[in-house]
Amino acid sequence: MIRAGVVGMGFIGQVHAKCYQETEGAQLVAVCDIDETKLKSAGRTEGNIEQPAGALDLTNVELYTDFDEMLDKAGLDAVSIALPTSMHAEYTIKALDAGLGVLCEKPLAPNISQCEQIINAAQTSGTTLQVGHCIRFWPEYAKTKEVIDSGEYGKVRAADFRRLGSAPAWSWNQWMMDAAQSGGALMDLHIHDSDYVQYAFGMPTTVYTRCTKGPSSKYDHIATHYLYDDDRVITAEGSWLMSPGFGFEMSFNIVLEEATIVFDNTRKTAFRICPADKDPFTPEILPGDGWSLEIAHFIKAVSGEKVPKITTPADSLDSVRLVLAERQSAETGKAVAIE
Ligand SMILES: NC(=O)c1ccc[n+]([C@@H]2O[C@H](COP(=O)([O-])OP(=O)(O)OC[C@H]3O[C@@H](n4cnc5c(N)ncnc54)[C@H](O)[C@@H]3O)[C@@H](O)[C@H]2O)c1
Repeated sequence: MIRAGVVGMGFIGQVHAKCYQETEGAQLVAVCDIDETKLKSAGRTEGNIEQPAGALDLTNVELYTDFDEMLDKAGLDAVSIALPTSMHAEYTIKALDAGLGVLCEKPLAPNISQCEQIINAAQTSGTTLQVGHCIRFWPEYAKTKEVIDSGEYGKVRAADFRRLGSAPAWSWNQWMMDAAQSGGALMDLHIHDSDYVQYAFGMPTTVYTRCTKGPSSKYDHIATHYLYDDDRVITAEGSWLMSPGFGFEMSFNIVLEEATIVFDNTRKTAFRICPADKDPFTPEILPGDGWSLEIAHFIKAVSGEKVPKITTPADSLDSVRLVLAERQSAETGKAVAIE
């Protein structure tokens, strides 16, 4: 049984805690938050996407307000780092140095140098480091990657991704609304799609991005063209600028030579494969969501089970690299080559 803990019991930390409670082979032993009220009101924060059903029950879970104390006393094997992005490096490295497996939320860190420090610490510790790129595990996105890789419907000709909502209102001390801490919607939200683009199609050679000012920064509505060495058209749009009544949309269309794959969480039939010569159908997907599946994967990895390579720390660094290139493109008005 893997003894798991969570630091940062805001929106995503509560999701992780609930997932550990429901994952075979894991036991949620301890949680930590600097804000004691978060430990008392667990199960009631809001976020973009509906959380796993049911309130979080922290009976018999050790509660800490100090991370070092949790590391000293709770006897953990694994911990989720669910803190504001600017704190990921410090806390992740501490946990790796203590010999724990770490699931660090995305983005790995706000800059390349901190990402490299984390990766070096993971290499030195020899323990598991997984980054919370949950979209790679999200059942529809995972199935789509499988279908593309199978080659059944030919090559990719075009793809567009969208992740659109209003500015998050829930964050601790409004850290998300301070671009110096969150990187705006570009680094915090849109990175999910940049990461999936490189996962599904490989790193582009060049990016061209436009951004519009919003409540946190110059980077709160984003549209990027990811350029490759052929004529495929790959784009992604992200936003914190939608009106509150809009809700939240995550969606894509992927055009293959012999089929179009469609996902839109706002539609009644959210996921369809539309083959060129047959009726559209909804393929079977794994039960659960990207969060529960990434945590099940993490627990298996920490337990020493052989797991497929779905996301690696090096990929996560590449996603930060990609988003920083997108920011440079938006700032200069020019296409930026990915080094
Ligand atoms: N994968 C996803 O779908 C997803 C969704 C949302 C957020 N995230 C990422 O997760 C991270 C956290 O985001 P969030 O929305 O949960 O933020 P949040 O503001 O809701 O939660 C952060 C929590 O950290 C606590 N905290 C701050 N300093 C602390 C400290 N020193 N010790 C202990 N606790 C401390 C705060 O009290 C707060 O409860 C960010 O990196 C964000 O990008 C990922």
